[in-house]
Amino acid sequence: MEKEKDIIRDIISGMFIASTNDSACIVDTVLQVSSDKEPLISVCINKNNYTNEMIKKNKKFAISILGNDINGEVIKTFGFNTSREINKFDDYDYLELDGVKVLKDSLGYLYCELVDIVDTNTHNIFIGKVIDSKRFKNFEPMTYQYYQEHKDELLKVKTNDNKTAYVCTLCGYIYYGETLPDDFICPICGAGKDAFERQ
Ligand SMILES: Cc1cc2nc3c(=O)[nH]c(=O)nc-3n(C[C@H](O)[C@H](O)[C@H](O)COP(=O)(O)O)c2cc1C
Repeated sequence: MEKEKDIIRDIISGMFIASTNDSACIVDTVLQVSSDKEPLISVCINKNNYTNEMIKKNKKFAISILGNDINGEVIKTFGFNTSREINKFDDYDYLELDGVKVLKDSLGYLYCELVDIVDTNTHNIFIGKVIDSKRFKNFEPMTYQYYQEHKDELLKVKTNDNKTAYVCTLCGYIYYGETLPDDFICPICGAGKDAFERQ
């Protein structure tokens, strides 16, 4: 069967921060599973990410929904770093729910109790029952497609301080350096050197 892999990018998705105690990361894989009185949602998280390990440990997570007004630094901080090394909320205002931080500069949050985990080769799908939620503001939610179209300006890829940058065309990860090694693999999405564009 012929595979045109880029058709997968036509699946519209949003932009979020998935958080749990001591860990948080950018995700674009949140879905509503059911819209009951206590709705169920799912989020898909790579097994290499610290947030995956910590959701399994804490059995709860929150989703902060990002709007088109979000500062690109938030995406860099939460999407291109690991909570194993930094506290990503250090520079941002947050609300804390039972030790789980949510971003105040988001459209709002869904706070969930973990009810199920689906295992796939590389990712887990975490299913959560929404036990609390709050809207902080009304604004247009950011889609992953919007992020893709605006990632250069959002991430403000700087090349004017004598640094050369290579940007991953799949996820936006920025590599600074004069040459990109032939065997370079994007630490975020696993794309190879061919997916990178020199700025
Ligand atoms: C636009 C964008 C979308 C992302 N979507 C996901 C996702 O859906 N699931 C996931 O596991 N990681 C996703 N990531 C990657 C994580 O945010 C990233 O690996 C992060 O550094 C993990 O942090 P942690 O180790 O603190 O959990 C995405 C990153 C970006 C920039």
